[in-house]
Amino acid sequence: MADEYERSAEFVDMMLAPHWAALGPPLSEALAGLAGPVVDVGAGGGHGTRVIARAVPGAEIVAVEPSAGLRSVLLARVNESAGLRDRVTVLPEGFLEATLPERLGALVAMNVIGHFDPPGRQRIWRLLADRLAPGGRAVLNLQPPSEPTAVPESRFADVRVGRRRYEGLGRAVPAGPGRITWHMTYRTFHDERPAGEVTASYDWWILDEPGLKAELAEHGLTPGRTGPPELGMYMIACT
Ligand SMILES: C[S@@+](CC[C@H](N)C(=O)[O-])C[C@H]1O[C@@H](n2cnc3c(N)ncnc32)[C@H](O)[C@@H]1O
Repeated sequence: MADEYERSAEFVDMMLAPHWAALGPPLSEALAGLAGPVVDVGAGGGHGTRVIARAVPGAEIVAVEPSAGLRSVLLARVNESAGLRDRVTVLPEGFLEATLPERLGALVAMNVIGHFDPPGRQRIWRLLADRLAPGGRAVLNLQPPSEPTAVPESRFADVRVGRRRYEGLGRAVPAGPGRITWHMTYRTFHDERPAGEVTASYDWWILDEPGLKAELAEHGLTPGRTGPPELGMYMIACT
């Protein structure tokens, strides 16, 4: 599969860090009391993997991350912590191509569902219906926009590291039914002087709450809201 994060991997993990300050506590709460194994879909650099490890002590974790750049961050983060190294397995395939445990205690898909087209989503829901253990849960979030409309450019990240400051900007354009393309610009400043600019584009499939409910219902699954409403998080429990 094409690596849409090839050019942006060096920026993505640090720019997601502030979002994880908000996402971490509700994700922990949603996973409390579960058993493993836990699959982290599109684990990126592992912010969520780390939250899962704390929330589900002792559980085996399978972190699936197809982007080589982000997987390098993930492997380094896992390898540096004895608590993670012993129980996190990093898989380099796309989620739909990965060989996963037969039974899943939980599945986490944060900031990633838009990477799956409608048939791909159907395969994820099918897998949940077939393989989530009784009492198991899936946790995911839906990100705006909820319709395939244009999104004007805005700055979504501003991170300082040493003498350098990194800005992330994004805008989206409609790209067909149910789909947008995000155009991202990553700017680097050294002592506030421009020092570089990288652009990248991501295809993103739109899914809103009614769509999620309708798709899951076809598989006998029901999502419930979890966490603060502005985070767009849902929990799917297997009964
Ligand atoms: C916006 S990042 C989010 C990373 C991480 N979940 C987080 O929130 O910090 C989206 C991630 O999904 C991954 N991804 C894209 N397509 C995927 C697929 N088919 N299977 C698994 N991961 C995928 C990307 O490589 C990227 O790491």
